[in-house]
Amino acid sequence: MVIIASPEIEETDESVVRSRLNGKEDGNLDNTLRPQSFDEYIGQDKIKKNLDILIRAAKKRQEPIEHILLYGPAGLGKTTLANIIAKEMGVNIRTTSGPAIERVGDFGSILTNLQDGDVLFIDEIHRLNKIIEEVLYPAMEDYKLDIIIGKGPSARTLQLDLPKFTLIGATTKLGALSNPLRNRFGATHRLEFYSKEEIKKILKRSAKILGVEIDETGLEKIAACSRHTPRVANRLLKRVRDFSQIKNHKAIDSVVASAALEMIDVDPLGLEPSDRHFLRTIIEKFGGGPVGLTTIAAAISEEVKTVEEVYEPYLLQIGFLARTTRGRVITETAYAHLGIKYDNQSKLI
Ligand code: ADE
Repeated sequence: MVIIASPEIEETDESVVRSRLNGKEDGNLDNTLRPQSFDEYIGQDKIKKNLDILIRAAKKRQEPIEHILLYGPAGLGKTTLANIIAKEMGVNIRTTSGPAIERVGDFGSILTNLQDGDVLFIDEIHRLNKIIEEVLYPAMEDYKLDIIIGKGPSARTLQLDLPKFTLIGATTKLGALSNPLRNRFGATHRLEFYSKEEIKKILKRSAKILGVEIDETGLEKIAACSRHTPRVANRLLKRVRDFSQIKNHKAIDSVVASAALEMIDVDPLGLEPSDRHFLRTIIEKFGGGPVGLTTIAAAISEEVKTVEEVYEPYLLQIGFLARTTRGRVITETAYAHLGIKYDNQSKLI
């Protein structure tokens, strides 16, 4: 087998869509806002406590930590947590993503280049192809890499010892992971949406790092529109800061924040034009549902996975959308928010 140079994270179609909605566009700046330690990391208290114990125990035993699976909606801090874990362990982190690993050779090269204790972070791990998954099982379990040399009858297998690494997998879709892969993680953690108070604390910290002044009313306003998601909060803060600077305001308050958010078409619940289009399409074309996922995706010209992973989580979370056995249904609350009359008769949720 030829071992080829290892791939870096690629920008897939999906990541482009997600970045549009969740604001990955200021990549460098995002890194400056990223907490570097558990002390700086706000929220997800239960996970932090568990990871802290896991890390301290592993350090005491002088062993690598067990493989960890992090799951939950995009933008909640899975990558940040993986980086903090590596930092707290004092090891290197190698970052890649499921769709970026196409060939066994590429993956072999990633694995053999790790050092004992290193963290291998695989984002979107549910999108690993089956062949790579098969390579991953013995690597995770026994730190072994099976390599086939040659082709046909003369092919031989060779087993390489791998460094004792820790795999941290991240996914937005736990259900899309095969059972054998899921079972090989020693710890699985679900990241929750953040409370408004936590988002306000994150905004306060970010504003300090960015050197912008913001008062309590400004924090409150931006937090309310942040979809309980730090990545969205930080993105909105940066847009409001731009607006505030152009208009020569000394500090961000609710008046400045409201004007800025209105200008970028983010409504008081944090819905963007694409979210409202999603809801309106189901209401106008399908009477508010129930309607199937693939039908919705076709109607708004998006991929099924984009609908599931980008559009739906927050709308489900705020109760604007319900999943039923017969399909997706828009709730009465969503109708009220959009100012559309709700026809109770046709709704059989
Ligand atoms: N920036 C993004 N996520 C954060 C978090 N959880 N805590 C502090 N700052 C953040």
